Amino acid sequence: MRRRHTGTWALATLIAMLGAGLTLSIAGAGETGEPMAGPVRWRADEKAVLASLSLQRLPSVPADPSNAVERQPAAVELGRRLFEDTRLSRNGAVACSTCHVPSKQFQDGLAVSRGLGTGTRRAMPIVGAGHATWLFWDGRKDSLWAQALGPLEDPMEHGTNRTRLAHVVATNYRPSYEAVFGALPRLEGLPADAGPQGSAAERAAWSTLDARRRDEVSRVFANIGKSIAAYEKSLPIVPTRLDGYLDAVLRGERAAGQMLRADEVRGLRLFIGKAQCVSCHQGPLFTDQHFHNTGVPPRDRARPDRGRAGALAAVQTDEFNCLGPYSDAQPAQCQELRFMVTDDPGLEGAFKTPGLRGVADRPPYMHAGQFATLEQVVRHYIAAPHAAVGRSELVHHHGGASAGTHVERTPITLSEAEIKDLVAFMGTLSAHK
Ligand code: HEC
Ligand code: HEC
Repeated sequence: MRRRHTGTWALATLIAMLGAGLTLSIAGAGETGEPMAGPVRWRADEKAVLASLSLQRLPSVPADPSNAVERQPAAVELGRRLFEDTRLSRNGAVACSTCHVPSKQFQDGLAVSRGLGTGTRRAMPIVGAGHATWLFWDGRKDSLWAQALGPLEDPMEHGTNRTRLAHVVATNYRPSYEAVFGALPRLEGLPADAGPQGSAAERAAWSTLDARRRDEVSRVFANIGKSIAAYEKSLPIVPTRLDGYLDAVLRGERAAGQMLRADEVRGLRLFIGKAQCVSCHQGPLFTDQHFHNTGVPPRDRARPDRGRAGALAAVQTDEFNCLGPYSDAQPAQCQELRFMVTDDPGLEGAFKTPGLRGVADRPPYMHAGQFATLEQVVRHYIAAPHAAVGRSELVHHHGGASAGTHVERTPITLSEAEIKDLVAFMGTLSAHK
């Protein structure tokens, strides 16, 4: 198992204890004008949680046994070029970097993304995604390379197909591709546009190919994903203002008091204490990599997004999953997929906890950009009862979800000042400012 479960209970207990009795001991924290925090006392139990958030604690990116080339520099370089190449789309205008803009934390700042068409969810930042067990908001892919194949065939995103991609690689990338993956298959006689997804004509053309040729083309397709994944995994995580503060606190340096403002430190205390945010937004990436229904209103009430519950079959039957023919893993290395949780009613309407590094710089928020500001996000967490009503309507619309939709959130009470402090704290998760 790549994910470590040990210690979760202990951490949860610690968090509950922190939430119970908090006394602020911040010197000189005024109501307005927000001075620097000055000397702040953190208890030993609080320091343990602070340490768990430090970038220093982030393990190196876990190896993906299903992708044998992910550490090869030549694969990283090929992936970087493919990531930015608009020829990998039907209209020649869409690349991965269209929606994952490098200068915008590899997302697009839109509520829902626009490629060939308009999607139903918000683009996700990519830095740090190599640490995730499940990809997408609903986790319908079990590796970064399998994830990359989704948008290529998605009619709303790149909208292209497998044989066209094989031709693009052969024409533009042959030496780089062959240096990593060996000889390309013979492409003579292959239709220009064929694939198992997409238009009726493309599917019909695909069905005329024999099994061996389909397999050869699908392998080129998978390898495109493997090199893009290698590139994505090579992206560095930039330290934030909070990291500097945490390191100074943990080393007992007085300079810590001059690194964050008083309101930011109060917000940090709330985040790991009374507001219980750290029970899901935990560890150096501020995510538990799990799925939760926090009662975010669906973008389209008539067709609510089922989130994780709607993705279970997709990941299990995906030909590009860890157990599939294009994976480089032994079946025994696919524990996450083999033992994934499928029978938890809490997965209905549940989405992956997003990491919060850089969050203040990338509104709007949630899986479909439902909230415009961080303040609205915090208010959402306070307004538990209203959200719960929204979700029971959702169950009704659904019919099939008889197990009910479970909103996983303990109501929290925060004053207006505390809401502002939490928002201020989230600003420390950025590199600049
Ligand atoms: C049209 C815009 C668009 C394009 C083009 C696009 N993406 Fe995305 N990307 C999204 C959206 C939207 C999501 C979330 C979708 C969902 O959860 O269903 C996403 C999710 C992801 C994720 C998941 C991150 C995580 O933490 O789970 C990765 C990785 C990613 N995209 C990589 C890529 C790569 C690689 C390409 C090119 C092959 C690409 N994307 C092309 C919009 C786009
Ligand atoms: C039960 C787990 C859980 C708890 C507790 C929790 N979150 Fe979240 N958080 C999530 C999930 C899941 C999402 C995505 C929900 C969605 O899109 O439907 C999310 C989304 C967010 C986002 C939006 C990030 C983005 O990129 O869209 C922010 C900001 C955030 N949470 C902050 C907080 C704060 C502050 C607290 C404490 C008051 C908190 N969360 C408590 C699970 C949790």
